[in-house]
Amino acid sequence: MIGTNVSGLTKEDIGYENGVLGGVVSALKVFAAPGDKVLLHSPTYMGFTNAVLSNGYQIVHSPLIKDENGTWRMNYEDMDKKIKKNQIHVAIFCNPHNPTGRVWTKEEITKAMEVYERNNVWVISDEIWSDLMMNDHHYTPTQSVSEWAKEHTAAFYAPSKTFNLAGLIGSYSVIYNKPIRERIQSVGKKTVYNSMNVFSEHALIGAYSDEGNNWLNQLLPVLSQNVNLAYDYVTKHFDGVSTFKTEGTYMMFLDCTDWLKEHDKTQTELLERGWDYGIGWQDGGLFQGPTSIRLNLASPTSRIEDAFKRMDKYVFNAEW
Ligand SMILES: Cc1ncc(COP(=O)(O)O)c(C=O)c1O
Repeated sequence: MIGTNVSGLTKEDIGYENGVLGGVVSALKVFAAPGDKVLLHSPTYMGFTNAVLSNGYQIVHSPLIKDENGTWRMNYEDMDKKIKKNQIHVAIFCNPHNPTGRVWTKEEITKAMEVYERNNVWVISDEIWSDLMMNDHHYTPTQSVSEWAKEHTAAFYAPSKTFNLAGLIGSYSVIYNKPIRERIQSVGKKTVYNSMNVFSEHALIGAYSDEGNNWLNQLLPVLSQNVNLAYDYVTKHFDGVSTFKTEGTYMMFLDCTDWLKEHDKTQTELLERGWDYGIGWQDGGLFQGPTSIRLNLASPTSRIEDAFKRMDKYVFNAEW
């Protein structure tokens, strides 16, 4: 939220949740009955998949598609069609999007909100990655695009990604619609232990101070440099592997479909080969990308460089 120039936000609009996923589930419990279908884009952050399914809801995916420049886009017609066909009244929106690293523009969010509005769909917007903008990309809060979006969206944030505070627990919601806010907070309270502790409270205050902002302003160029390095490496050195250049988050989603075909290898073999040579990476299958791999680029640049050299020497350009 740092630097987004949000206006009209009052203290009352902000609520507490131990974690963003807990907040997403509290909101789901208000917006849908167990067994109901929920619209999600795919690829999908696996935390959503687990939380939605384990709480008794069903998932309907609307796949994101890559345009001619390799940029991930929403398919508004598909969203509209699936919402109508499945009588969906709640969607989980991820802005910026994990795992693709896409930062939705104001125009794109506006179009998505128009689809939701037309179909009376409540929106749960996970904006946990909103501070992590690479290469000067610009984050737009979902609730800022229209009056409808403001009143029909429950948004969730946390300092945990930006300031590496996940271990301390703590996130917060912004819900302008009073009855909805009160109902979501009431669900959250029923777990009894959904309350802030003194460490996380002071960590959050510290993170959102000028000093925290200074630190973030030094972090973002390093992460952007890592993204640039990773993107250049993949596009210049790894034939058959393609990727979208992460705009936000510090994740990168590699599409290895062609490489696997050309080298007659399975996804499991590829993943294991990487781990055997000291490359810690994650199976994209967990995110509905069965021939993709998710990379976390939040390390010193020297380590990212080392990881890519290993991929080059021992994995993508090696005989094995
Ligand atoms: C989109 C998204 N939401 C939520 C979380 C987890 O947040 P929390 O630990 O606050 O539940 C993550 C962590 O990777 C995430 O990527």
